[in-house]
Amino acid sequence: MKQTHVLFVCLGNICRSPTAQAVFEKKALERGLRDWFVVDSAGTGDWHLGEPPHERTVLAAQRAGYDLSCLRARQVRPEDFQRFDFIFAMDESNLGNLRREAPRQHHSQIALFLEYAGMPRPWEVPDPYGGGMSGFQRVLALIERACECLLDRLCEYHQQEQNPVS
Ligand code: 4NP
Repeated sequence: MKQTHVLFVCLGNICRSPTAQAVFEKKALERGLRDWFVVDSAGTGDWHLGEPPHERTVLAAQRAGYDLSCLRARQVRPEDFQRFDFIFAMDESNLGNLRREAPRQHHSQIALFLEYAGMPRPWEVPDPYGGGMSGFQRVLALIERACECLLDRLCEYHQQEQNPVS
């Protein structure tokens, strides 16, 4: 089976994108489709390399049944643009960074996470860093809704990729 490779990207890789990674992985697991996907997350910034997710990100996720304890922040690398079929940015600023950093010839489809998932506008996942617990909980709830929609869409993509029309 050809797996579908999905990378979620935010600024620090300690709040939004690790949450999206954990939520997407769990929802795929619940549908019995975990092995269809290779999922990862990264940041466009380098301030938090090697750090675990933000403590309020971990807490909000834990309360909803997601385990982020194994995740460590990393920065987007040039090879990500070849390895991943999809790179999903959490906001316009990160989308711009990704498009600037992408090698001229790249494989990945680069898109706004909420737009590609078919969510209503606004298509930015707000940055909760520096805010209170409620902001982290709102971000988690938004990411949960979006991951359900994204999974529907990527399941179709995945199935088409198994038997592409030549
Ligand atoms: P994230 O949130 O991009 O969702 O991980 C942030 C984390 C750290 C910073 C900004 C946003 N920072 O400026 O260090």
